[in-house]
Amino acid sequence: MTEIIDGNAVASELRDELAGAIETLADAGARPGLATVLMGDDPASQTYVNMKQRDCEEVGIDGRHVDVDGDADPEELYDVLEALNADPEIHGYLVQDPVPDHVDYREVIRRIAPRKDVDGFHPENVGLLVAGDARFRPCTPHGVQKLLEASDVETEGADVTIVGRSRIVGKPLANLLLQKADDGNATVTVCHSRTDELAEKTRRADVLIAAVGVPGLIDGSMVGEGAIVIDVGINRVDADTEKGYELVGDVDFESVAERASKITPVPGGVGPMTRAMLLYNTVKAASLQAGIDVELP
Ligand code: GUN
Repeated sequence: MTEIIDGNAVASELRDELAGAIETLADAGARPGLATVLMGDDPASQTYVNMKQRDCEEVGIDGRHVDVDGDADPEELYDVLEALNADPEIHGYLVQDPVPDHVDYREVIRRIAPRKDVDGFHPENVGLLVAGDARFRPCTPHGVQKLLEASDVETEGADVTIVGRSRIVGKPLANLLLQKADDGNATVTVCHSRTDELAEKTRRADVLIAAVGVPGLIDGSMVGEGAIVIDVGINRVDADTEKGYELVGDVDFESVAERASKITPVPGGVGPMTRAMLLYNTVKAASLQAGIDVELP
């Protein structure tokens, strides 16, 4: 029987566990504060930031949202970041990616105070992560690690194949799974759009992680019998639904579920974990800034 890994359940447990830390910080006058910044009006990004704000409200984090006009000069965005860097009530914030074409996201990241960079994208935080001393693990990779742990998947000694080399998922996740740690110690292969014989590499994985943003790229023929399959993809495809689209992963669920021993669904797999880990990083940021130790799940 294939086990469907329930990301909603694991995320909900994690959020409950964070609630204690949030109250400890709030009692000490340091209720965690998270800001989201959105430049432009991309509908998917609007949905994501709305969900992040709702999450904050539900767990007792002070949420704030800042919209910046999509046609504005980048300096206007930088002024917002400077104000957030200096704001004692905001412990962490993020600028939703993508930003409009005339803005360089790399420059945006460099202007976020590293101690408030709850995405973990700032070069200082990337460096700490690669060195094995992460301050903030990026939310999706950290969520994948927590999901594997909650599903009793041992990464130690496992052949893990990641399809996708993005800054947000593939690269940091490869680094984390490689580290000498209980939730690492894997043998990691990273595949991408120029990889030769992709199916041969995906088939030999004990744990296959798809993070490319190509709907249904991984089908049953590319998966070894009994593999654990984690689908990070969240792709909007046109569909005859009320909204005119549906969300699908990078994995063709039907054919892969026939071969996998455990598999994450889309939606309801990695997505809720990403959101939970943003809350986790915000609590950690508040704890570090207030100098108050709290127990994190
Ligand atoms: N856009 C898609 N995923 C992310 C993310 O993890 N952080 C930010 N800031 N933007 C995103």
